[in-house]
Amino acid sequence: MSDKASQLRVRLRPHIKTHKCVEVARIQTAGHNGAITVSTLAEARAFAEHGFSDITYAVPIEAGKFVEAIDILKNGVKLNLLTDDAGTVTALNEAAGKAGIKFDVFVKIDCGTHRVGVEPHTAEAIETPRLISDAKNLNFAGILTHAGHSYDAKTKEQIVEVARRERDVMVELAERLRSLSIEVPTVSIGSTPTMSTVDHLDGIDEIRPGNYIFFDNFQATLGTCSFADTALTVLAAVIHKGRSKLVIDAGAIALSKDRGPVELDPDCGYGRVLDLDGSETGLRVTGMSQEHGEIEAGDAPAFDSIKVGDRLRILANHSCLTAAQHSHYNIIENGEIVDRWEIHRGW
Ligand SMILES: Cc1ncc(COP(=O)(O)O)c(C=O)c1O
Repeated sequence: MSDKASQLRVRLRPHIKTHKCVEVARIQTAGHNGAITVSTLAEARAFAEHGFSDITYAVPIEAGKFVEAIDILKNGVKLNLLTDDAGTVTALNEAAGKAGIKFDVFVKIDCGTHRVGVEPHTAEAIETPRLISDAKNLNFAGILTHAGHSYDAKTKEQIVEVARRERDVMVELAERLRSLSIEVPTVSIGSTPTMSTVDHLDGIDEIRPGNYIFFDNFQATLGTCSFADTALTVLAAVIHKGRSKLVIDAGAIALSKDRGPVELDPDCGYGRVLDLDGSETGLRVTGMSQEHGEIEAGDAPAFDSIKVGDRLRILANHSCLTAAQHSHYNIIENGEIVDRWEIHRGW
């Protein structure tokens, strides 16, 4: 992704919510300008404490978080915010004025995910940027979108289609804003599926993929990466063996209950079961409660040789949700744990 950003001449601002880990972010931003994207103010605080000073909080801001955001900015961080709400622009401008600071604010655009954001072809898509541009204590940072609906694609061609639309919708809107004399400093897009498949990024300034750092069962099934590209597994012990079932000590709070690529692979369960070397066993985590994971034998020959006390690796459906359940990563080299890296969770 680092090479791709350079080749396609865009700035890379990786989303660190996937790993929430300073050491991983340093690897990810090497050779780039050190800018990152976060999904909680706790991540912003933790990464600021470790020297990251250009941070986009990529969830719409609301008044209850103004004080904390001002505090982070006053500690020397360029904290970029985003909104799709005119009332919030007015309130944020007032709060920034009282605090004697200026925020850089993006307008969130909905390029098809229909989660948050302003529809690109509406009057609001012009008025909200203008409102921010005119606000005394805010800088209009630009427009920002995330094609989360790329995860609903069934084929690689469909992902490419979503990727082109994510790019084109934003380039067109930026042109429209500029034609109305509204300066657009940054056009920011990006998800792992779209940035892995997009053909060009002309007119785009920065990309914010996150999941690509580990990938997972979802991305490999979707075709965004190969299974060999996946980097994150949960080590689990077999604690029970029945006639046709194994139980492991990794349930919902170790793996998450994300159903992953169920549309593409109805039997994907809650994760692929690998052996200690990371090779496929043909088994899947088929059920779970809080800390128990259940693995039905099905017709996988590997079942017969697995016994209580054995260790297995679970390649989870969605690495972002899995990593967020844990306090640290074990860093493995040649089968040995050589380091532990902290995961900065919280809100
Ligand atoms: C606003 C925003 N930007 C970027 C990303 C990164 O997307 P991905 O995890 O597909 O790389 C996300 C992920 O949810 C997001 O919400």
